Amino acid sequence: MNNERITIERVTEFDSQLIDELSQIEAGAFNDGALNRWTFPVLIRHGAVFLLKCDGKICGVADIIKDWTDPKLAFIVGFAIKEGERGKGLGYKLLSGIIDELRGNGIKKIQLTVDPKSERAVSLYRKAGFKQLAELANEYGPSVDRLLFEFELED
Ligand SMILES: CC(C)(COP(=O)(O)OP(=O)(O)OC[C@H]1O[C@@H](n2cnc3c(N)ncnc32)[C@H](O)[C@@H]1OP(=O)(O)O)[C@@H](O)C(=O)NCCC(=O)NCCS
Repeated sequence: MNNERITIERVTEFDSQLIDELSQIEAGAFNDGALNRWTFPVLIRHGAVFLLKCDGKICGVADIIKDWTDPKLAFIVGFAIKEGERGKGLGYKLLSGIIDELRGNGIKKIQLTVDPKSERAVSLYRKAGFKQLAELANEYGPSVDRLLFEFELED
């Protein structure tokens, strides 16, 4: 991986092949919570979808919306590294890249929710500087609890 060329880019146009590829990455990361061909087009057009590319191939995806009531808040709806590429520092690179993208865009806070049992994800967010704000019981259904994390962008 050391010599791989890593880039981050925002998706501005899409076709069904790209949507299928992104949906497969999501399906490999989440169960019924996976984003899919109904949700990716909306997020690409009305939110922001960022791709992490390793030597030109998609190896991670992050999906972001801006908050309706707080224009200074961005929320990460989805964040996943492709199966087989995890545990190599790519999640950290994608997260750092997104933070840089949001900096200077009027965004002051970034929030996300994470499964408390997902040790690598929790560790990644803590190491990147996110702080736990709350425990959200039953957030996505009975016994589907999440931790709410927040990152503050300095001026
Ligand atoms: C969670 C996920 C996004 C993390 O991405 P990843 O590429 O596997 O993680 P990384 O290799 O970047 O990070 C792994 C570890 O190195 C740390 N790390 C990596 N680069 C680092 C750096 N430059 N500085 C500090 N810490 C770093 C991470 O914090 C983490 O810590 P740990 O060793 O205590 O586990 C990925 O595993 C995934 O897609 N999982 C399935 C879906 C999921 O759970 N998504 C999150 C939803 S909220």
